[in-house]
Amino acid sequence: MSEYIIAIDQGTTSSRAIIFDKSGTIISVGQKEHEQIMPQAGWVEHDALEIWRNVQEVIGIALGRADLTRHDISAIGITNQRETAVVWNRKTGKPVYNAIVWQDTRTQDIVDRLAADGGIERFKDIVGLPLATYFSGTKVAWILENVEGAREAADAGDLLFGTTDSWVIWNLTGGSEHGVHVTDVTNASRTLFMDLKTLEWRDDILEAFGVPRSMLPEIKSSSEVYGTAEDSSLLRETPIAGILGDQQASTFGQAAFTAGESKNTYGTGCFLIFNTGEEIIHSKNGLLTTVGYKLGDGPTHYALEGSIAVTGSLIQWLRDQLGIISDAPEVEQLADSVPDNGGVYIVPAFSGLYAPYWRPDARGAILGLTRYANKGHLSRAALEAVAYQTRDVLDAVNADAGVDLTELKVDGGMVANDMLMQFQADILGVPVVRPVVSETTALGAAYAAGLAVGFWSGLDDLSANWQEDRRWEPELDSAEQERLLRQWRKAVTKSMDWVD
Ligand code: G3P
Repeated sequence: MSEYIIAIDQGTTSSRAIIFDKSGTIISVGQKEHEQIMPQAGWVEHDALEIWRNVQEVIGIALGRADLTRHDISAIGITNQRETAVVWNRKTGKPVYNAIVWQDTRTQDIVDRLAADGGIERFKDIVGLPLATYFSGTKVAWILENVEGAREAADAGDLLFGTTDSWVIWNLTGGSEHGVHVTDVTNASRTLFMDLKTLEWRDDILEAFGVPRSMLPEIKSSSEVYGTAEDSSLLRETPIAGILGDQQASTFGQAAFTAGESKNTYGTGCFLIFNTGEEIIHSKNGLLTTVGYKLGDGPTHYALEGSIAVTGSLIQWLRDQLGIISDAPEVEQLADSVPDNGGVYIVPAFSGLYAPYWRPDARGAILGLTRYANKGHLSRAALEAVAYQTRDVLDAVNADAGVDLTELKVDGGMVANDMLMQFQADILGVPVVRPVVSETTALGAAYAAGLAVGFWSGLDDLSANWQEDRRWEPELDSAEQERLLRQWRKAVTKSMDWVD
């Protein structure tokens, strides 16, 4: 058995390849950002061909940096931004349209049309999700309705749909020659098309959306051999053996395998996942029900999820659209230059508000401005918005679970921000805990692949790899915490009912 596993993390802003050893330690990383295409307000697209080129490139970078070849790699795990939809021609391998990204809100009309008969919870008992622009099913429907020739090609059986896991695997296994068209249960659970109990596509829902079943990938478990990389790949003949949507992957990488365990990942958005074991729990508090993982023929593990659309991307917005910082770390320095938020609150409802509100009519708002407010206050308000939104979601998890979480495991890029992590603990009132390997998303995908090929023997092996790096204890007095939350909640209500 070779000594390493490679994980490909096809994320919202970049694609990465990360090589891990048996202890879960990172050996090397290749990373490349791709363009965020925003043709009009509310629209966000990616060039799927650019993503595929980047994936190939980062595999080469990761192997090269560690001076390794495919012979050193036991298996490939894939993790991905989850609801971003790619539709491509199975004969030419060309996408018929740019990938429509999970944050994109152009499908609101489709959502409204479907919700006219039964409301936004029309399919929720079956699929665990409300009707919302967030989910990939609405995006496929939009492409079929709006891209010239797409409907005819789909009806002729020429088009394939997939989230970026499917797109990468289809290309990696040979594309139009002999590409394997699969996805896993976690990604399938984000389409609006999969029955959570049977783990199969629902014909009645596909019909309501006008999406032919022939376009859809085969639904597989999260850990099994789906195929091998084709001859022209640097990883040729290496088995592709794990797929997990990125948030489920980070839950797995945090070794949160059993009911009651949870994690929050701070990326473009924030996603808090609470493992509910083999039980499907329907939220009464605005959370999604989703598949957590399924290993081969093993039982399906479900989860509740609080999805927050905009957290890290708010910092990018300060950098790219407003230009008040020149790089992401500067936000912490600026925030640190003021003693408090100066009364400023930012509600980053750029894609409406997701969990626990699900308000497509909300839009971003900056409140509490006075002549006194400066860049420092805005930076601080941006970081605080990340923590407040997480608190809103944690309250929903506690209400659904009937018990309060006693600590929160965290991961993702923003957990390097000490000030944010301290404020997060303060505003939650429970400790926040960061593991040694904070790249838990890629690690989770590597784990899924490694389990399938016997690189790791079982979950105990993986749990033994988890180690605490740092813990932040709550320090804020409760009166101040209450005051901040009161103002935040007022700000949230002001962001709603904005879209005409
Ligand atoms: O649901 C969206 C999520 O999968 C995207 O995650 O880390 O690419 O922002 P990330």
